[in-house]
Amino acid sequence: MVFDSTFTIISANTVFLQTFNVKIEELGKRKADFLLYQSVTGISQFNTIPLDELQKDAYILMYIAEGMEISFCVDIFTIGDGVRGKYFYALMRDVSVMESRFIDKSLHALIKASLYKDNDTSVHLDRVNLYSRVISEHLFRHHHDQFPEINQFFIDKISVVAALHDIGKIGTPDWILSKPSDLTEAEFDVIKEHTVNGAFILSSLGGEMARDVALFHHERWDGSGYPYNLKEHDIPLCARIVALADVYDALRMARFYKNPLPHDEAKAIIAAERGGHFDPLIVDAFLETDQEFARIFNNYRKGQEAEVIEELFSV
Ligand SMILES: [Fe+2]
Ligand SMILES: [Fe+2]
Repeated sequence: MVFDSTFTIISANTVFLQTFNVKIEELGKRKADFLLYQSVTGISQFNTIPLDELQKDAYILMYIAEGMEISFCVDIFTIGDGVRGKYFYALMRDVSVMESRFIDKSLHALIKASLYKDNDTSVHLDRVNLYSRVISEHLFRHHHDQFPEINQFFIDKISVVAALHDIGKIGTPDWILSKPSDLTEAEFDVIKEHTVNGAFILSSLGGEMARDVALFHHERWDGSGYPYNLKEHDIPLCARIVALADVYDALRMARFYKNPLPHDEAKAIIAAERGGHFDPLIVDAFLETDQEFARIFNNYRKGQEAEVIEELFSV
């Protein structure tokens, strides 16, 4: 793609036009301002990057087309002076597959690191992925009108990033993590920071959904959660789904400060929080799929990590 110093697209090949939804008649008018979004930093830096900076090195541009994240490796060269000043050539290669493999591996390594720290087991994290996928698929198939933002990309993504909800606990002191039953207010404030810490850790990796899950999974539908007391639809959908998945699994698990609950008791607790802790429609989706939750919990216990991975990647 060729553009001038005002970022106006002068010419481009068909693949570029299709990918970025640019019509031939828009050449010479439409701006390629998306080149200025360096989402690799996790922060959109619109119009703040001078062209010579962009030209220094190839960079990764994350672009969302029809709900799909595409990663491009962008290289910009000067191709001489024209009537409208300097012209530039942007060579863009789709590196999505390479990028996503690299990101998946890095996220996996992060999760492994967090297991040394937290007393959560890897099957808990895998089960939270599986429940989140069950709810998302159910909403996609049966309640698409109420949840138009859910598509296949959303389902695939949440099935991986749900496990990252507590990644910020890497930054929580061990002595606080190991006494979760009897916390002072100050200690609980430190625990709460795992949400913000998680978003910080994921600021350059895993994309927006991973950050939202880490940051908002303790927000509650009625506004009584943390860290920001967000309410209802102000809480991103992915975090509303993971919140329920995480609580269900926590209720079913034995911890040194509590006994495990049978499925029906956990179900009743979640149902009672319809419109309280949880989004009412997500509770409805849970009540419509609760047997799947029970099956996942019963099938995947400690020592069965391999089967969980098989189920996650079988579709
Ligand atoms: Fe958490
Ligand atoms: Fe959890």
